[in-house]
Amino acid sequence: MHPPAEEFRVGVLASGAGTNLQAILDTVHGRDGIVVAAVASNNSEARALERARKAGVEHAVFERGEYRDRGERDLAIADWLKSLGVDLVVLAGYMELVASEFLAKFPNSVINIHPALLPAFPGLHAIEKQLEYGVKVTGVTVHFVDEGVDTGPIILQEAMPVPSSHDPDETLKLLHVVEHRLLPQAIRLIAAGAVRIDDTRTRIVHVEEEDR
Ligand code: GRF
Repeated sequence: MHPPAEEFRVGVLASGAGTNLQAILDTVHGRDGIVVAAVASNNSEARALERARKAGVEHAVFERGEYRDRGERDLAIADWLKSLGVDLVVLAGYMELVASEFLAKFPNSVINIHPALLPAFPGLHAIEKQLEYGVKVTGVTVHFVDEGVDTGPIILQEAMPVPSSHDPDETLKLLHVVEHRLLPQAIRLIAAGAVRIDDTRTRIVHVEEEDR
């Protein structure tokens, strides 16, 4: 993996605790030319904002009620991220869909992390749904974001056995360990130019595996 010649600027969208943001700040930010340049939230109470503040990263709240509709709000977020020179947008526990107007501003440059092996169990409450279903294997998916719910092309996936307790808290804790490794890894790979969507089979994402 070659370090990029210029700075690679990451914007993170988060709605809640922000443990994935913290993993990015701790393991990616300020290394190999990668900088977390901005953190935005739709929720003024999000702990992610406090994490950004502590790390000295620009942060802002874009609450839905302050805009005519989601499209207008998302365009405001996109413009703010653009003004800070963001190259890649990472949804790290961002609990809303991103409007198509936003995606048009960042083509193939928005990624998301999901606590299931997609296409199984997309959407909200994925961990609870997997435990209710009785699956034995769960995992984490990092994927490009398209207009659907967790439907974009898959970049990285890692499977993990469901703990024998079938307990949601224990499962979440174990999944977080995987997430906090996989999401930073995906960012590093993208920053290094090691991730490419196939020219014709556009669901397929090529990753330079030997560098992982
Ligand atoms: C993670 O489990 C992620 O997969 C999902 O939302 C959760 C966010 O957790 N999309 P955190 O806010 O990063 O702690």
